[in-house]
Amino acid sequence: MNKSLKHNIILIGFMGSGKTSVGEHLAKMMNYRFQDTDLLIEQRERDTINQIFRNKGEEYFRDVETNLLTELQNGLNNTVLSTGGGMPLREKNRKLLKELGYVVYLRASKETTVKRLRGDTSRPLLSGEELGEKVKRLLKVRIPYYEKAAHKIIMTDDRSLEEISVLIMEAY
Ligand code: S3P
Repeated sequence: MNKSLKHNIILIGFMGSGKTSVGEHLAKMMNYRFQDTDLLIEQRERDTINQIFRNKGEEYFRDVETNLLTELQNGLNNTVLSTGGGMPLREKNRKLLKELGYVVYLRASKETTVKRLRGDTSRPLLSGEELGEKVKRLLKVRIPYYEKAAHKIIMTDDRSLEEISVLIMEAY
């Protein structure tokens, strides 16, 4: 473990990459707390992510994400933090994420991602365009940012929560 880092594991990656399920599993294994930025934002804004996007727009949501990440610098410890799929898009957020802990990019192929997201109505960015096209287009833009933001990349296709959690613990 890198002793200069705070004792947190930060999970980043595209929607459907398993950040929340892996995060909950990993936190139990490590006896860490589990937190999820989307849930923290919904509590803080007293609204769903869908409604925040609809009523206040994506830029507003991104500002709330950055503010939350800034505030978490004070005091977050022994925590697995799962983050929204757009969190690493801002340069400022990428820096804050690395300062907050050990950043793990959970990566899944486009095919796995589409399979996992089929039928999902909770994610505003997935509405409209055909799902496969949308995922392909967003992944192309985002993968370089996820790679830049991460200390470690883990492929999640065909791996169980247990296997992924063990890989993260070994790397941490
Ligand atoms: C988003 C991902 C979502 C949520 C919001 C925007 C994105 O989180 O933050 O809908 O831009 O990729 P999950 O990755 O947990 O689905």
